[in-house]
Amino acid sequence: MARWIIAIDGPAAAGKGTLARRLAAHLGLPYLDTGLLYRAVGRLVLDRGESPSDAEAASRAARELRPTDLARSDLRGPEADAAAAAVASVPGVRAALLNFQHDFGAGQGAVLDGRDIGTVVFPAADLKLFIVASPEARAHRRWLELRDRGVAVDPAEVERDIRARDAQDAARAIAPLRPADDAVVIDTTALDRDAAFAAVLEIAGERLVPGSA
Ligand code: C5P
Repeated sequence: MARWIIAIDGPAAAGKGTLARRLAAHLGLPYLDTGLLYRAVGRLVLDRGESPSDAEAASRAARELRPTDLARSDLRGPEADAAAAAVASVPGVRAALLNFQHDFGAGQGAVLDGRDIGTVVFPAADLKLFIVASPEARAHRRWLELRDRGVAVDPAEVERDIRARDAQDAARAIAPLRPADDAVVIDTTALDRDAAFAAVLEIAGERLVPGSA
């Protein structure tokens, strides 16, 4: 089995998680949603009554993160989104989580989705995809997702939160959201899930050479 490292980055709700999970299953590779790491650190900080933008508190929580923290049921939703984005701009947090991500990919290869997988975590990844969609399309998808989970929110508020998080992720000094120079950009605004996955498979077929990993 090939031990490819596949990096799938992009802004919130562009569809990268669904695509990454499907591609991992298709290729028989382990999958890591790296956003969960930042979400779990944010939650740990909140549990302790500390502020997610307190660099020391956030770094301590990141160093103490255990794999079981990723299975918590309260890692989604506006509060977790905001806490994750805040801890994600703390250098000590990113350093601690870098080891976790390297360890995950080191053994059998992996598909990882996030913001900086192709630029920072695995700059030599075998395949880098950068998934984008318009802010309106992403906000609508996130709103549907929240509605299906029984979370009642105002669509305008969801779009505002997504735009704010994009701006924060793109503007931060450390590991900002941006495509790697050698990433293939896929715009899923006008694509349904199957069409987006077909586009990913086509690129993977062109770029992943059997026997290269
Ligand atoms: O992907 P998701 O929306 O779950 O990520 C939550 C937050 O975690 C993002 O807004 C971003 O601030 C941060 N993140 C990051 N680097 C990653 C993955 C997520 O900074 N590789």
